[in-house]
Amino acid sequence: VKMSIALTFDEGAAIVAGGSGGIGSQICRDFGKAGLNVVFTYHGNVARAQALEKEIAGFGVQCRAVKVDLTDFSTVDALFNDAANRYGNIRQVVYAAGPAFEFAKIGDIDPAEWKRVIEQDVVGAFNLVNCAIRCFQRQGAGGNLVALITAAVERIARADLMSASPKAAIETLIRGAAVEYGKEGIRANCVAPGWINAGLGKKGIEEKMTPDMVAKILNSVIPLKKFGEATDISHATLFLCSQQAGFITGQTIAVDGGAQT
Ligand SMILES: NC(=O)c1ccc[n+]([C@@H]2O[C@H](COP(=O)([O-])OP(=O)(O)OC[C@H]3O[C@@H](n4cnc5c(N)ncnc54)[C@H](OP(=O)(O)O)[C@@H]3O)[C@@H](O)[C@H]2O)c1
Repeated sequence: VKMSIALTFDEGAAIVAGGSGGIGSQICRDFGKAGLNVVFTYHGNVARAQALEKEIAGFGVQCRAVKVDLTDFSTVDALFNDAANRYGNIRQVVYAAGPAFEFAKIGDIDPAEWKRVIEQDVVGAFNLVNCAIRCFQRQGAGGNLVALITAAVERIARADLMSASPKAAIETLIRGAAVEYGKEGIRANCVAPGWINAGLGKKGIEEKMTPDMVAKILNSVIPLKKFGEATDISHATLFLCSQQAGFITGQTIAVDGGAQT
């Protein structure tokens, strides 16, 4: 190629909620490789969080893992205050967290499980977005929000409502943030993963699907005939956070190989 275009970022650190996850960890790595200091949250996976913290510090940036229950508002608020005290401006905030769940049709979903999943995902994302907006406002120089949702929101979600319903709420939250705070230089977008061979998706592919089911999905559901990788999601996320995406807000990019269901 004769020309390459590098992504550039506003001066400041990144906060990634769910950085210990299969996809979130790759987003943290890519922010670190791009030269941004990274603060990421984990919930239960302390070993993975510590290993990632060390790996990213090896890229020559500062990295800090913080144990956070995203449904606890005061803890999320404290995360932002502490990160701002340590690293100065926070300019990128990514929601890459979300509870694990089983695929089930609506009539088979246990009401208590529905309540748990909705609360952890929707309340967690709200707390993060609320704290991010107020942090950006204190700094007075705008900022970028990206939430991972699911391609099931854009398509028809068969037996996947526990993923799609909370993510639909998160998508409206993000679009609302884009409209309400655009004039303050805050951009807000979503990345909608399809079948990804990382994190929850990898677990599903390896533990819940027979080779026949995998072949059927690759042959008849995904036109590009492959599962996505964590880097496919992190590249879209970093693009939306970059200065090169400076006129994009309130949008969702599905990264799903063109999947039809
Ligand atoms: N992978 C896919 O194929 C796929 C497809 C569509 C959408 N998505 C969405 O993309 C996002 C990331 O997925 P993933 O595959 O990377 O999932 P993952 O590997 O299971 O990671 C989930 C992350 O969320 C954190 N978390 C879980 N419950 C939490 C809670 N109550 N409070 C705070 N943090 C909590 C986990 O922390 P610990 O691990 O430390 O406990 C982990 O960092 C999720 O929202 C998922 O629904 C994924």
